[in-house]
Amino acid sequence: MKTLIKNGTLITASDTFKADILIEDETISRIGLNLETDSDHQVDASAKLILPGGVDPHVHLDLPMFDTVSSDDHYTGHKAAAFGGTTTAMDFVVLEHEGFDHSVDLWMKKAEKAAIDYSFHMNLTRFDDKIAKTIPSLMGMVIQTLKVFTAYNGRLRLDDGGIFKALQIARDNGMLVMAHCENGDVIETLTAQALAQGHTEPIWHALTRPAWGAVEASLRMAAMAEQADAPVYIVHMNAAGEVDMLQYARERGVKVMGETCPQYLFFTQDHLRRDDGAKWICSPPMRTKQDNTRLWQGLSNGVLQTIGTDHCPFYFDGARSIVYEGSEIAIPGKELGMHDFTKIPNGLPGIQDRMPVLWTCGVNAGYITPNQFVAYTSTNPAKIFGLYPRKGALVPGADADIVIWDPEKQVRYGVAHSHQRTDYNLFEGWELQGCPEKVFLRGKLIVNGDEWKGKRGGGKFLKRNAGEVL
Ligand code: URP
Ligand code: ZN
Ligand code: ZN
Repeated sequence: MKTLIKNGTLITASDTFKADILIEDETISRIGLNLETDSDHQVDASAKLILPGGVDPHVHLDLPMFDTVSSDDHYTGHKAAAFGGTTTAMDFVVLEHEGFDHSVDLWMKKAEKAAIDYSFHMNLTRFDDKIAKTIPSLMGMVIQTLKVFTAYNGRLRLDDGGIFKALQIARDNGMLVMAHCENGDVIETLTAQALAQGHTEPIWHALTRPAWGAVEASLRMAAMAEQADAPVYIVHMNAAGEVDMLQYARERGVKVMGETCPQYLFFTQDHLRRDDGAKWICSPPMRTKQDNTRLWQGLSNGVLQTIGTDHCPFYFDGARSIVYEGSEIAIPGKELGMHDFTKIPNGLPGIQDRMPVLWTCGVNAGYITPNQFVAYTSTNPAKIFGLYPRKGALVPGADADIVIWDPEKQVRYGVAHSHQRTDYNLFEGWELQGCPEKVFLRGKLIVNGDEWKGKRGGGKFLKRNAGEVL
């Protein structure tokens, strides 16, 4: 099967140029001007942009949390991703008591319904001799990435000794440690004090997780990585000081990379003071306008490397059902913490929103160029996580994951527009300009305007290579 996309303007992480693209079966076979061939289909992309499919390095699908589960699974979340121009998503395996094999098997089962291509990171939430010995076995399962936490005491956190040893094991086995950076002890103390004083409202989620904890934990991670001579990738950077620490460490040759997420670019902790403040609860929390500004600077000047979503949606009111693909579905959500902010499930929707929102508010607003947009949302995550040039690239031989992007299309965005399986959208009513028009996954058209043409099980588990340190 041959599809010829004619007259588009290709945007890669480094170049912008006019060309036609020939897709043969699942891959891009040729790129050039005035390609003529006996194709089965031709698509006219005049006045449109052609981007490599988005790669979201950080999502949580079907994730058990507190007494519920994140409300998008590997089908619904992937479908939403595709509508936003993302064709690869990477989520995190929960480490079960039984160990890595069992945990990965469980996640593989969950992902059988995948609708876009995917890969996994492993949450390293316990560390002992037995775990240490079996970490290298993850390479056999092509899972080269371990997420460690400096917060969530008694649940997910490792102590610094465990993190340091994990960095050494990662270094010796060509793996990459990803780090959630906050100060678990400070959070534990402030949370207990807030509850003892009867503070139960959502704003206390932010007030008990101060930005300084994220700042010092980010520098601590970079410092440990340097001492272990290992690379590290800091997830969901949210505070101005974290960008400063990232810059400080990178300028000194430390192999540290940083990811931010749209929510930290647009919102502040004041959103948590609203009546519907629970909608904005995630960890780490939103900060201030100054933090938003510094994060944008970090993207404009290339201190940061990627923009993921940390997509981990919950309903605002899980007692009420919504209609999804014709069926009523209700999943307990943020209302679980109505009387206690510590019981509000942490996380937000965003897998579909990432690219359209960043195009309008990043590219159109002049904070990042179209090439940086592609670098942050596709090429850099593909490089760091060992998927490049199969993903994140418009070159012959790459998977034909292609987005035909309409830079003129205007939408009033919101929950009615979004396919994320939840009852709210953080960008409700925002006027966006620039959206995917058609999305191809390995040569198959999966989104055509408003029409879903993808399917359950259409996504593939990706075997990754060694990643690059950017
Ligand atoms: O609030 C969030 N981000 N939930 C997902 C878990 C995590 O720490 O990334
Ligand atoms: Zn995290
Ligand atoms: Zn996360």
